[in-house]
Amino acid sequence: MAAAIETQNLTKTYKNRSGKVNVVDQLNLSVEEGEIFGFLGPNGAGKTTTIKMLLGIIYPSAGQAQVLGKEAGDIGIHRSISYLPEKPYYYEHMTGMEILKFYGALFGLSDTAMYQRLLERVNLAGDQHKTISQYSKGMQQRIGLAQSLLNDPKLLFLDEPTGGLDPIAHIEIRDLILQFREEGKTVFISSHALSDVERICDRVAIINKGKIAAQGKLDDLLRGGRIEIIADNLTSEFAQGLKLNGATTSFNAGRLIVDIDEAEDFNGLIDGIRNAKGKVVSVLPRRRRLEDLFVETVRNLQSQGASK
Ligand SMILES: Nc1ncnc2c1ncn2[C@@H]1O[C@H](COP(=O)(O)OP(=O)(O)O)[C@@H](O)[C@H]1O
Ligand SMILES: [Mg+2]
Repeated sequence: MAAAIETQNLTKTYKNRSGKVNVVDQLNLSVEEGEIFGFLGPNGAGKTTTIKMLLGIIYPSAGQAQVLGKEAGDIGIHRSISYLPEKPYYYEHMTGMEILKFYGALFGLSDTAMYQRLLERVNLAGDQHKTISQYSKGMQQRIGLAQSLLNDPKLLFLDEPTGGLDPIAHIEIRDLILQFREEGKTVFISSHALSDVERICDRVAIINKGKIAAQGKLDDLLRGGRIEIIADNLTSEFAQGLKLNGATTSFNAGRLIVDIDEAEDFNGLIDGIRNAKGKVVSVLPRRRRLEDLFVETVRNLQSQGASK
């Protein structure tokens, strides 16, 4: 598959009170066509700055980036990409439909039937004559997504698209993003929260202080290496036997909780529980939290730096 985005040592330097700082620091990213790529990192990590360089809104201080096979900033790409900023600003007095007409005109479009279809897609057909000032935050994000589809882009940049939304609105936005992938679009989505992206991203990069801390499949990055099994109707003698075999066990309200290494034979353990007339309640691979991964990878980076 071709790369939708590639960067080589992409760097942006800003001056602050303490001197020059690389807010994006030698970033090497590779995003495949057709994937949903999560760009994760805490506030201030450099996510928005990176997106702006990829869009050609600001220039890199060093390094390069290619978007859809052209140098970032090449005007020719603009027809094939779109961007939903972190804090989109809309004219409050315009209605949903008027917003699409307004931005559509910027692309030289005047296709009311298409606007209507977009409004239906983002579930705003019934609210298209309300003004933006009457829209909830979730509705504003959805009109933003409709607007970002106006030019039928191949590649979408969504900067924190679920920031500040309630759980229902989160799900609506996530479902829409999944549909984009179904249509073969590439989606580059930034977020500071793991829960936003963990169920939809094919791959992620985690950045911190402008540097990539980790890149790969989220499942691989967050694999905890342990499995938790919860079961009913078991005795403390049974638990004792497991402990002798290296498992960690505890009881909570009469339920046995067993924590074993992923490499252990957990199928055999489940057989053992059943043979002892126990009832398996759940088997859960334990994933690490994004926060833990941040802390760990940042420490690794620092210790690598110290040993140089
Ligand atoms: N125009 C600018 N001038 C100086 N510093 C900036 C500018 N834009 C962003 N920064 C700084 O760069 C860092 C990264 O910002 P940003 O890319 O917005 O992070 P994120 O989107 O990950 O929250 C922050 O420390 C921010 O203060
Ligand atoms: Mg940002």
